[in-house]
Amino acid sequence: MIKAVFFTVLTVAFFYIIWINNIFAPHEHYEMPAQYAKIAEDVSYAKEGKQLFEQNCQSCHSVRYDAVYISSVQANPKLKTLQEQYGKVLPKNVYEAVFYEDLMGLKESFGKVPPDLSTMYLVKGKEYLYNFILEPQKVLPGTSMPAVMAGRPEETAKIVAYLKSVAEPSPEEKNKRVLMGVGTIAYLIVMGILLWVWRARVLKRMGLH
Ligand code: HEC
Repeated sequence: MIKAVFFTVLTVAFFYIIWINNIFAPHEHYEMPAQYAKIAEDVSYAKEGKQLFEQNCQSCHSVRYDAVYISSVQANPKLKTLQEQYGKVLPKNVYEAVFYEDLMGLKESFGKVPPDLSTMYLVKGKEYLYNFILEPQKVLPGTSMPAVMAGRPEETAKIVAYLKSVAEPSPEEKNKRVLMGVGTIAYLIVMGILLWVWRARVLKRMGLH
């Protein structure tokens, strides 16, 4: 009885923490006007967002998972040769080793290498990204990231939509995963039932049932 209570409490606490109130997750909340949140979630803006990214961000940031490298690298003929050898998305270590000087040049100017933004959407979420890109100083006082999108909330939201499209699997891929998940659970349930029936039969044959 004590055992049952103990494990029930432990299980409930576990799911409460991971599903309802994760005390280990960061707690800052960032506001975002609903009309821009809608744009940032909609990956059909990704193409426009990518163009805006190329115009406003690519001088400093890469999106390696989308084979988008910082401008000076993109202009380097070495890139094409490497891509023929390794594929469009270069391994991180190859990218960082071959273009070390480009990255260190940025570090000299800004105090640190501007991060690659491939998975930033998953790590930080749309509200943080929208606020940070629009007003970097307000979110991260003292940061060397310039406010390149100041006063352009709609375009900022489109850039976030682009980052979302890179970080998240495509809608078709997502559907496929849901289908696989449902299929796997259904398989386990059916096999469970068959095992139960089989077990009952074996027990009967052994005269134990
Ligand atoms: C002139 C260089 C430069 C440009 C242009 C630039 N950034 Fe940055 N960005 C930086 C630097 C430097 C950092 C690191 C800031 C820090 O950690 O203090 C940074 C950090 C970031 C971060 C990470 C914030 C965090 O919390 O770690 C995001 C996201 C980002 N930039 C997005 C963008 C987007 C989107 C654009 C284009 C609209 C852009 N940046 C344009 C230099 C730049």
